[in-house]
Amino acid sequence: MTDSMTPSASSRTTDLDRVIEAAISRRGILGVMTFGLGAFVTGTTSLTSMALAGTDRFGFDQIPAGTDDSITVPEGFEWYTLIRWGDPLWSDAPEFDDATRGTAESQARAFGDNNDGMAVFHLANHIIMAVNNEYTNRDIIWGNRADNKAASDDDIRKGMMAHGVSLFEIAPDGDRWMFVRDSVYNRRITTGTTMELTGPAAGSDLLKTAGDPTGTRSMGTWNNCGSGETPWGTYLACEENFNGYFSSSDPDYEPTAAMQRYGVKLEDWGYGWAKVDDRFDISRHPNEPNRAGYVVEIDPLDPASAPKKRTALGRFKHENADVVLASDGRVVVYMGDDERGEFLYRFVSEGHYAPGGDNSELLNSGTLHVARFSDDQTGEWMALTPDSTGMSAEEIAVNTRMAGSILGATTMDRPEWVASHPNRVESYVALTNNKNRGIKPNAGGDATPVGGPNPREGNLYGQILRWRPDGDDHAAPTFSWDLFALAGNPAVHADANAGSDNINSGNMFNSPDGMMFDQQGLLWIQTDGNYSNTGNFEGHGNNQMLAGDTETGEIRRFLVGPREAEITGIAWSPDRRTLFVGVQHPGEDGGSHFPSGGTSVPRSAIIAVRRTDGGLIG
Ligand code: FEO
Ligand code: CA
Ligand code: CA
Ligand code: CA
Repeated sequence: MTDSMTPSASSRTTDLDRVIEAAISRRGILGVMTFGLGAFVTGTTSLTSMALAGTDRFGFDQIPAGTDDSITVPEGFEWYTLIRWGDPLWSDAPEFDDATRGTAESQARAFGDNNDGMAVFHLANHIIMAVNNEYTNRDIIWGNRADNKAASDDDIRKGMMAHGVSLFEIAPDGDRWMFVRDSVYNRRITTGTTMELTGPAAGSDLLKTAGDPTGTRSMGTWNNCGSGETPWGTYLACEENFNGYFSSSDPDYEPTAAMQRYGVKLEDWGYGWAKVDDRFDISRHPNEPNRAGYVVEIDPLDPASAPKKRTALGRFKHENADVVLASDGRVVVYMGDDERGEFLYRFVSEGHYAPGGDNSELLNSGTLHVARFSDDQTGEWMALTPDSTGMSAEEIAVNTRMAGSILGATTMDRPEWVASHPNRVESYVALTNNKNRGIKPNAGGDATPVGGPNPREGNLYGQILRWRPDGDDHAAPTFSWDLFALAGNPAVHADANAGSDNINSGNMFNSPDGMMFDQQGLLWIQTDGNYSNTGNFEGHGNNQMLAGDTETGEIRRFLVGPREAEITGIAWSPDRRTLFVGVQHPGEDGGSHFPSGGTSVPRSAIIAVRRTDGGLIG
C-alpha cells in the first residue's frame, strides 16, 4: 500500500470517491460517473495514483495474451508436465487409457481429476506434494460414452474416485522434478475416506446421520477447491461446491431453509452419486449435506491418519484458507465463501501457535468473524457468537452463512483466494466477478448494493481487494481497505469496465481467482474467466497467470494456459527454482488436447516452470 492509498481519518476525501481515485485514478470522471456516484465526486481532489514505473522486481518480460493450445512462458523460462489426471501413483495400477478413461478401481490408485489448490511440504527429508482434485467434467471423464453420460455404476464411482485429494512424493531427476511412484507417502483421499468431525459442531444432532449416529465422523471429501498450509506442516483442503452432488429420490421433498441457502436442491449437477450411494439422497438423509462444506486438515506425513474437518472454521463454499499469525501468536485463518453475494470470514484461534509443539487442537476452538466493509474504506470483523447471533455455537459452525446474514455482513463479489503478504501485515482477496451485483440478492435475501469494495453493477471482470489490519495485527477488530486492481478491458471500454489504472491492453485479464505471494512479496494471480477472446473479453485470450508488484501496482502477464482451461493452484519447490502451476479442465468444451497433444484426451495437469539458467523464481 503506497502512502497515497492509505485511508486517513482526517482526510476530507472520503467514501467511494477515494476508492475510485485509488483504483482508477487516471480514467477520470468517465470512470467515476459509471459508478453512479455523481453526488460523491464533486470537489474530489485527485489523489496520486500508483506509480507504474519503478524498480523491476519481476525478473521476467511480460508475454502477450494468447489462444494457443499450450503453455506460454516468458523468454528464459521453460515448462514441462509433472503429473496428469489418471497417472497411477502406484505401479500396481494401469497407465491411463484414452479409450476407456479408466475405471473406479484404476482411478482410486491414480492422480485425481481437475487439480486445484496445492502445497509442497519438505518434511523428514521427503518432499511431498498435496493437491486438491476439485471435480470432474462429464464431457471429459465420460467422453467415451454416448451423450457423455455415465453408462454404468462404475462410471459414477470412477467420478467419485477422481475427486478428493492426491498426495505424492516428488524428487529431482536432473534439472526436473518427477513424482515418485510407490512412495510410502503417496495417498488418495476420496469420497470413501473416513474423516473426523472436530470443533464446536462435533457430536451435534445436526451432524448425526445413518452412517454415523455419533455426529463425529464424516465419509470423504469432494469439491476441494483452494488450499492452505499451516506453520505446523499440515495441509488444508477446502470444500467448495459440495451441494452439487446431492439429489432427492422424492420429487416432493421440500429442501429446508438451510439447504436452500447452500444451494442443495432436488437435483444434482449431473454427477449421479445418489444412484450408487444413498447418503447423497437428501430426502432419505437430510443431515448428510451438513457433513460437507468445511476446511479439512490433512497430515501429509502420516498416510494412515484420518483427515479432520474443522467445523470451527465454519461451513460454506470454502475457497481457500490463508493462515497467518496474530501479533501474540494466535492463528488467524482468512477464508472466502465463493458464491455471489456471500461473505469473507476470519477465524482467530483461542490457543497460540507453539513451534515444534502440539498444534493439533488449534483449529478446533476460537472465534469466527465475518467482514463488514464501510464506504469510507474502513471495515470491521464481527464475531459470530451465540450472543451476537442468537444461534448456538454448533448452529454457527454448520449454518455459518445464516449467522453472517444476521450480523449484516457485506455481500461480496464471490470471494476466491485470500493471500497475505509475507513481509507486512496486509492481505488480499480475489473477488472474481458477480453478474448479480446490484441486480439480485444472495440466496439468503441479503441485498447486494453497488458500492464499497464491490463497485460495479453486474461485475463482469472482477477485482482484487486488499486490507491492512489496524495496529499491524491480524487479530485486530478493524482494518482499512482499498482496491489493488479492478480488472477490465481498456481496449473495449472507456468507463469503469476499462479497469483500474494498472490495467492496460497489454496485461488485461478477467476473473482473478487463485492468488499467492512469493517470498519476495510479488503477488501471483491466476484466472478462471471468460476465454472467448471476443466482445467484452476480446484480447484477454486464454486463462493466464500474472504477477503483481503491490508496491508500484504494476501487473505483468507471466503465463498463458491452454484452451478452455482454468489456471489454478500454485506452489514452489523447496529450493524456489521451480514453480508448480495447476492447469484445470483443458478442453472443457471439446477444444483441447493438452498436455499430450495429437488426438489425445485432454487432461488436467500440474506443470513445472523453471528458468533455463536454473535461477530462483519468486
Ligand atoms: Fe473452485 Fe471458487 O473456485
Ligand atoms: Ca477457484
Ligand atoms: Ca473460480
Ligand atoms: Ca474450474
